[in-house]
Amino acid sequence: MLHLIRLFIYDLARCWAVLLLGLFSVIYFIENGAAIELLEKYQYLVLVCMSIVLIERLIHFMRYKRYIQLPYALKLYNRVNNEQKESKIYLDKFIKYDKKTQTIYFKNRLAIDKEAYLNAKHQIVHLLGYEDNKEIELEIKAFNKKEIAIRLYKLPIKFDWSIDYLKDKNLYLGHSKKGAYYLPFENMTSSICCGESGAGKSNFLNMLIYSLLHNLKYIEHLDFIDLKGVELSRYKLNNTTFTDKIEEVDTLLENLKNEMDKRFDEMKEKNHLTYNGKFRICLIDEIGSISTINDKKLKETKERIQNNLISLGQKGRAARVLVWVFSQKIDSSSISTNLLTNLQASYLLKSTSQFNINNAIGLQEEIEEITRTRVQDFNKGRMIYKDGLTSEKVLLQTPYLSESVQNSMIEYFREFINK
Ligand SMILES: Nc1ncnc2c1ncn2[C@@H]1O[C@H](COP(=O)(O)OP(=O)(O)OP(=O)(O)O)[C@@H](O)[C@H]1O
Ligand SMILES: [Mg+2]
Repeated sequence: MLHLIRLFIYDLARCWAVLLLGLFSVIYFIENGAAIELLEKYQYLVLVCMSIVLIERLIHFMRYKRYIQLPYALKLYNRVNNEQKESKIYLDKFIKYDKKTQTIYFKNRLAIDKEAYLNAKHQIVHLLGYEDNKEIELEIKAFNKKEIAIRLYKLPIKFDWSIDYLKDKNLYLGHSKKGAYYLPFENMTSSICCGESGAGKSNFLNMLIYSLLHNLKYIEHLDFIDLKGVELSRYKLNNTTFTDKIEEVDTLLENLKNEMDKRFDEMKEKNHLTYNGKFRICLIDEIGSISTINDKKLKETKERIQNNLISLGQKGRAARVLVWVFSQKIDSSSISTNLLTNLQASYLLKSTSQFNINNAIGLQEEIEEITRTRVQDFNKGRMIYKDGLTSEKVLLQTPYLSESVQNSMIEYFREFINK
């Protein structure tokens, strides 16, 4: 509090000084240099102006006191060590709060330390009074040369699905800080989605399928693979196929690979860089259940599956043949490193394994920039999406699909597609 009063006095003194100097110059100009003698005549005007400034500054300080105190409370400063003199401290200063974007700006006259803000993230949340509000997220970005922008936004922990999220030629991935987040069809790549059991992978997978089914006119065929469960067998629609047998998976991937090669031949002939026909997309839930099959007779089959998946991941995008893989773990026991590095986009849901986190998204610091929650503490459906083309990272929340919602969506698509 004492610090705030001191800051207030400094600030007020500075504003008054500027005001008096300004008024003096104006009067001096109007009265042709006779300002000193006329001081009495203008005393009320001067007093009124000073009071207005006082009130304005007072309101500013009362309104933004939390932000003004923040750099002081968290010791966010820069120090210059001068050999002759004592060291000098430059405290970060609150600059402004942009109500529209909910962004707070801080500046340091010397240089600002972004790392210090990232490290103080939890304290900042606490100090601003959002400790118990799990929906408030903050994003810390460097701004201009010597500024930091802290953006506060709300991302719901749980919300319901709505059919209005479906959009033509776009894949709905969930909600980001700006609302519904879409991936245009032409920017789709092969991808990996990773998260521990119960994190919300299958929920997300079903949600992606809705966008695909909604856009089925741009898709030649959808293939669902799941050796473990029957969830994906519920979609008995034209243009979709479900497989839960390894031999069938083998044939399917062999076909997909041939289809990709055929499309490449066609592209070569027409001098096209990308195929301009319909997509073929293959979704594989729990890929680990393929690698963990321990049957000697199936060794060759497994190898062929792996190799075909790698080829599809590597080259499929231009031919619009994509594989979307879902897995609890992404270490080499579940998915070969070679395949993993060829899946361009990634989605990371709750995971306690540092290996998963590093290999799906990247460094801890990059994650800290976009969320205050640790990946191991993510709630259901919370994820970081890394774009396959731009590598941009976005924090997303997927809506909850209850069983009745899922049943009614399947029913809806049956009517819409199988008619
Ligand atoms: N976005 C979400 N919001 C709220 N609850 C969710 C969300 N996603 C999933 N859940 C809940 O979490 C449970 C587990 O989700 P899901 O089956 O998608 O997990 P999973 O990652 O596929 O797990 P596993 O690896 O075991 O298959 C679901 O029964 C659902 O009730
Ligand atoms: Mg699942």
